[in-house]
Amino acid sequence: MADTMQGLKRTHYCGTLREEHIGQTVVVCGWVQRNRDLGNLMFIDLRDRTGIVQLSFNDKTSRDIFEKAASVRSEYVLMAQGVVAPRESVNNEIPTGKIEIEVNDLRVLAKSETPPFEITDNTNVKEDLRLKYRYLDLRRSQMQNALMMRHKIVKCARDYFDDNGFLEIETPMLIKSTPEGARDYLVPSRVHEGKFYALPQSPQLYKQLLMLSGYDRYMQVARCFRDEDLRADRQPEFTQIDVEMSFVDEEDVMTMNEGFMKYAFKKVLGVDIKTPFPRMPYSEAMDRFGCDKPDTRFGLELIDLSDLLGSCEFKVFAGALENGGSVRAINVKGAASTLTRKEIDKLVDFVKTYKAKGLAFTRLTEDAESSSFEKFLKPEEVSAIRARMGAEVGDVILVVADKNSVVYDSLGALRNHLARKLDLIQPGTFDLLWVTDFPLFEYSEEENRYVAKHHPFTSPKLNELDKLESDREHCNARAYDMILNGNEVGGGSIRISDPEIQSKMFRALGFTQEQAQERFGFLLDAFKYGVPPHGGMAYGLDRLVMLMLEKENIREVIAFPKVQNASELMTNCPDYVEQESLDELSIAIAEHKTEE
Ligand code: AMO
Ligand code: AMP
Repeated sequence: MADTMQGLKRTHYCGTLREEHIGQTVVVCGWVQRNRDLGNLMFIDLRDRTGIVQLSFNDKTSRDIFEKAASVRSEYVLMAQGVVAPRESVNNEIPTGKIEIEVNDLRVLAKSETPPFEITDNTNVKEDLRLKYRYLDLRRSQMQNALMMRHKIVKCARDYFDDNGFLEIETPMLIKSTPEGARDYLVPSRVHEGKFYALPQSPQLYKQLLMLSGYDRYMQVARCFRDEDLRADRQPEFTQIDVEMSFVDEEDVMTMNEGFMKYAFKKVLGVDIKTPFPRMPYSEAMDRFGCDKPDTRFGLELIDLSDLLGSCEFKVFAGALENGGSVRAINVKGAASTLTRKEIDKLVDFVKTYKAKGLAFTRLTEDAESSSFEKFLKPEEVSAIRARMGAEVGDVILVVADKNSVVYDSLGALRNHLARKLDLIQPGTFDLLWVTDFPLFEYSEEENRYVAKHHPFTSPKLNELDKLESDREHCNARAYDMILNGNEVGGGSIRISDPEIQSKMFRALGFTQEQAQERFGFLLDAFKYGVPPHGGMAYGLDRLVMLMLEKENIREVIAFPKVQNASELMTNCPDYVEQESLDELSIAIAEHKTEE
């Protein structure tokens, strides 16, 4: 049987003891990191979420305690009382390394089987195993630090927005499915046979209704659910710091949120963030960086060569231009020695995954020049290209010719890829900016219609209202994304607060009056009763924490994340349920779907 805690109370966390505690009697609790038995001397490293402290046992220790200490194994849970003493062999690697606790009372509160992997930070254990035993993985100090930092960031959000007069208001988790955006997670209703709730993709409509109800500054740490394909920065359930304000324009929302970032970075990391952040229109971001979340920590900007190639006879370039596309390039300065022919071949394969048909190149080395395309061009075209690219000996020029979307996608991704490969990014830098002036619509090839780029409640630019139904291609939105190190950490917009414009917007999206009423009727009805001008944004909290802690994957900052196929390895969900439960919900599973 395990010992009890009777008569003892924890006085200190393990990792907090220092030389100033020498001479004091303390009580600590934690898990055994390791146990070293040197015969008449014994040491146990005891770990809690603040760190590790050394317990020591020697010839002055009573025999029964000494023997008990000898019996403990890794991950046993102990409570120990003792006197803090200076340590003979100081360990400068850990903050408690100058002291130890000479134990005079030891309780084994729980035993442990040998864990499937050692609880240590330099682990090369496969992630699947870590996730199956997540409760053990979470004992590692890296995970504990990440979750403690995450807590601090959330607390900063609550403190900052509270200081600025925001109210945290919860919105429902079981809501009406409103088909726009990602796929909904559906929840069957038992009471209403055949009907379904949806889990919220975001609190968007509710926060807008709260504005209408007069709660003019709202925030919420909100759980969101989206049934979409997972990537390193996406989870099917994730958390937003969701914000909405009334009587504001874009500048007000952006300034308020810059203030939050400044506050959180200072408080959590001690880093000074410069405000206001630079602002970059969407069109400039695409033009210079090939994407709407540009990483501006390094160069490698896209340069348009199309106008130099008007009469070019190289089929690849001429063909792209004839089809309304473009020819663009990046100059990888001084990379000729690293980017060998073989390496360039790998880059060709890389851009092909972004649908580019090829990657043309020129390598300018000390002794030789090689190019896959210059031989097809006139000498004046070659020199014009080189001049525009600022090409010098040692550089590598990489060119893609295609329709614009492919050129942007492939060169944008190549830029990010090369920056990592060539180590162009200085660690510890935080690069924040706003991307503004997004297009209001984007054409969905899948659905064969225009869809809202942000969501259907985002306001068009007020001077473009007349183009709403006649020239959707060129309508811009009052939307903004916050970009941190080339990632979208947040985004939002000024909303439509005029029912007439909202109806126009639904028409522009191809909804009939009836369809709009059926899907968003409650909102349209509500908007008849006095809507204040309003706008806001939402941060992806998981992404924000990941980027602030410089992690590669959001799973590293989520206690119990899901894996690529949206399952959770520890509890093994999703899972089948009892037939009875299905019957109660009037749900039948198609025969072939139940086969493994
Ligand atoms: P949006 O859809 O851009 O906007 O989401 C806001 C932010 O949430 C994060 N995010 C995600 N994080 C992890 N996993 C996901 N699957 C995921 N999807 C999104 C991103 C993104 O910037 N209601 C609007 C906000 C508004 O207009 O106020 C919204 O949800 O960091
Ligand atoms: P080819 O004429 O197919 O041998 O191509 C000559 C060079 O142009 C090769 O380096 C190809 O990788 C490159 N190339 C082919 N298609 C494209 C394209 N769409 N954009 C840029 N380069 C291309």
